[in-house]
Amino acid sequence: MPSKAEQYEEVRKQIRSVVTGETSETARYATAACLLREMFGERFFWTGFYIVDPAKPRELVVGPYQGTMGCLRIPFGKGVCGAAAETGETQLVEDVHAFPGHIACDSRSISEIVVPVKGRDGQLAAVLDIDSTKFGAFDAQDKAGLEAICAELLTA
Ligand code: SME
Repeated sequence: MPSKAEQYEEVRKQIRSVVTGETSETARYATAACLLREMFGERFFWTGFYIVDPAKPRELVVGPYQGTMGCLRIPFGKGVCGAAAETGETQLVEDVHAFPGHIACDSRSISEIVVPVKGRDGQLAAVLDIDSTKFGAFDAQDKAGLEAICAELLTA
């Protein structure tokens, strides 16, 4: 059984090899969401992207995902995704019910991690949101693994 760090390294390489040379951001996000879910299975109850809307620069709109139906739009500053978009920092939340302004798309989500995705210009392009039905499902290893993937998602 590979360690979590090994799983992240493996899925990072898979994503990189599939998306290299692909110019469509949708194709890149969809591939990453699929391969992450394939690697981690049920542990990732909801896996997907909220993209900065070019028409409304302080609003996120849902992008490619795997899981139950997500909310369509999230303003910057609102909930966990909005906090990641506002601050540009990863949000690691053990219990979403204790998070101010949390948006409950699916009441089964208990913990989540949201990682910013930046383009070559360093500007925020999207956030990667992963939810779990378990309390405190994500840790510093998830943060490191997902940040490494997001760092090269639009730059590799
Ligand atoms: N939980 C998120 C909203 C998006 S969904 O869970 C798919 C949040 O508070 O940002």
